[in-house]
Amino acid sequence: MHYLAHLPASADSTAIAREHQKRQDWVNQQKKGFLRYRQPALELAKYPAAWVDCSGDTVMIGQAEEIGDHDRQLIAGHLKAFMPWRKGPFSVFGIDIDAEWRSERKWQRLIPALPDLSDKVVADIGCNNGYYMFRMTDARPRLVLGFEPSVQHYYCFKALNGMARCRSLHIDLLGVEHLPLFRECFDVIFLMGVIYHRPSPIDTLRDILTALKPGGTLLLETQAIPGDQPVALFPEETYAKVPGTYFVPTGPCLLNWLKKAGYVACELFCSHPMSPLEQRRTEWMDFESFADYIDPDDSALTTEGYPAPWRIFVRGQKKA
Ligand SMILES: C[S@@+](CC[C@H](N)C(=O)[O-])C[C@H]1O[C@@H](n2cnc3c(N)ncnc32)[C@H](O)[C@@H]1O
Repeated sequence: MHYLAHLPASADSTAIAREHQKRQDWVNQQKKGFLRYRQPALELAKYPAAWVDCSGDTVMIGQAEEIGDHDRQLIAGHLKAFMPWRKGPFSVFGIDIDAEWRSERKWQRLIPALPDLSDKVVADIGCNNGYYMFRMTDARPRLVLGFEPSVQHYYCFKALNGMARCRSLHIDLLGVEHLPLFRECFDVIFLMGVIYHRPSPIDTLRDILTALKPGGTLLLETQAIPGDQPVALFPEETYAKVPGTYFVPTGPCLLNWLKKAGYVACELFCSHPMSPLEQRRTEWMDFESFADYIDPDDSALTTEGYPAPWRIFVRGQKKA
């Protein structure tokens, strides 16, 4: 909860503290589903890394020579408790974690559009295991707060930062729906891989606008469909086998959403088709992946017969 000290008086600190405590009381129960992640996270936090480097494609936490082979085996076992690893790559005391997503590629695409993050208060909504939060530390932000309701990802981040000890990084078991409590708190908000999971995307964008400081920046990345018309796909059940998918927009549709929600200086700065080079099964994620979501006879379609996914990146600002 140390992050409250970095938030302005406009934050509803009482309500945030209450939500935080409610989730801590829930996750601290002695239940198998929580202990399976909490225990390895606590074990890994016993190994503070002397050397951390988040400036390259692989987030490096500790060097191989900092620990002996026995400890390395123990650490590898604890890290495996967080499988399937979705985001990465990481290297932990010389153990290479090849995650399902090549997240460094997304980060490289963001770099040309990144505002100055130094001394800024930043939120990463749906931060997963914090790969992008670690990458942000290179710019020396004052605070990066990860919102992540999944217990698995929450503890995976806790495990990684228990070793990396990046002081500006914090996480809470909160969701995008808690943003109205953070009125005018953030200079920059990242919303990546989340909006197509929201039943009401305009309300989500408005909540983000509320949580931005005047002049603040939203960086949004999402699954998309190709096309020049301002339309969104609304799948019957799943999209690319993913349940809980609501609106999958084209680039022009997403820009219209941003403008209608009240953002200014909106621009689409990157779009690309998804590729099995980017999201694939690995030793650390041994379930189905992108290739299994695509029609084997027509790579332009998903298994459901919808247009195969693209990814698009937009930036918008709150009026100063
Ligand atoms: C597709 S992943 C994207 C992860 C990461 N932001 C990225 O772009 O690679 C969606 C993430 O949002 C999280 N999530 C689920 N429900 C959420 C909610 N209500 N608010 C915020 N994040 C949520 C999931 O647990 C997951 O980590």
